[in-house]
Amino acid sequence: MKKLTLTLLCALSIISLSAQGYQPSEEVRKSQKEFAEDRFGIFIHWGIYSMFAQGEWYLQNAGLNRDEYAKAADAFYPHRFNAQEWVAAIKASGAKYICITSRHHDSFSMWDTAESEFDIVDATPFKRDVLKELADACEKQDIALHFYYSHADWSRDDYPRGRTGYWVTGRDKEKISWESYYNFMNRQITELLTNYGKIRAIWFDGWWDHDEDPAPFDWQLDEQYALVHSLQPGCLVANNHHQTPFEGEDIQIFERDLPGENSHGLSGQSISRLPLETCQTMNGMWGYKVADQDYKSTRTLVRYLVSAAGKGANLLLNVGPQPNGELPATAVERMKEMGEWLAANGQTVYATEAGDVKPQEWGCTTRKGDRLFVHIFELEQDAIYLPLECKVVEAKEFGTNKPVKFQKVSGGILLECGQVSDSTDYIVELRTK
Ligand code: GLC
Repeated sequence: MKKLTLTLLCALSIISLSAQGYQPSEEVRKSQKEFAEDRFGIFIHWGIYSMFAQGEWYLQNAGLNRDEYAKAADAFYPHRFNAQEWVAAIKASGAKYICITSRHHDSFSMWDTAESEFDIVDATPFKRDVLKELADACEKQDIALHFYYSHADWSRDDYPRGRTGYWVTGRDKEKISWESYYNFMNRQITELLTNYGKIRAIWFDGWWDHDEDPAPFDWQLDEQYALVHSLQPGCLVANNHHQTPFEGEDIQIFERDLPGENSHGLSGQSISRLPLETCQTMNGMWGYKVADQDYKSTRTLVRYLVSAAGKGANLLLNVGPQPNGELPATAVERMKEMGEWLAANGQTVYATEAGDVKPQEWGCTTRKGDRLFVHIFELEQDAIYLPLECKVVEAKEFGTNKPVKFQKVSGGILLECGQVSDSTDYIVELRTK
């Protein structure tokens, strides 16, 4: 009886905790701070979809039969996978964290889950728990690890179907059961947050699958978020729902656009006060796509990272590993070059906040303490006007410390940079009071 009362009390307190007035714990606030200081992470989309080399939506886009698609698992043998090498290449980019797809919309789990046979250990000849190997390598090389986890599922019978995955065939409609699916997810999340060491964030995706339902779909997020926080109090909850953050979330995500921009139609939501992150592809796809060799240049990627920092946001830059387990050579090269740039200029990006001057045609600004960094990408004229409320006491080229002339004018300063020497990002450091 005593035990029962205690269980009931616990359950009630979880429900009331999850219900309203979410206050991030001290552990969450610590992770939020670390996360925001990192500014740069690498996203990894990897699963059996990489075998088809058509991106991670292939199952749905091609309208395949789920059992035929699942046969790819039996041939998935990424013999060149080496977690230590991956982490080393990622660290060389200057990124401070990795977010990897633990289970994407196709339902395939990249770890040895007890909740399904459709996973990398039970369903492939490879039989290695790649998340475990990656978690160990991350710990060894001291880089934070985040898990992407899909809410939407295109293969399971019990998942209540939404507006995507519609063309996938072979599922049994009779077996749809939200309760079964929800419990399955929570048990998987429990595994991920119990057996893989410290996980700094869970990155949910797929809420949008039910955003056009005639009646609001209840994902029971409150309880799920409370579960995450109860398993690892410092684990950040993120959800790529393309909405203004919901109660219980600890960071805000933007997809393919910087906060406040919306060129892809996924980022119209308002900007919250939570730490921000924009995820972006290095080429055009998240999962490996053989035809897509259209990689952004290092200059474009560096500018994107700096522009994110100029908006007070992190960049989560994606790499889609090959079916053989290697990171594409072009991606490795881009990461190396970004790392070289960051080794020289990282001070103007890591642990900064959005600068006083909002992003402009010519570039953007970041701030750290009394230093304001002016990042100039393209300059048509010889001088730029910076509207500033603070007083500028010194202006110099970042790196060389060569003085840069400036004039005090009404409402700010005129920075006379003349010919801008660096074509990626010419940085002027201002000391302000
Ligand atoms: C979208 C896509 C998904 C991808 C994600 C990354 O939600 O559905 O394939 O993983 O964006 O941001």
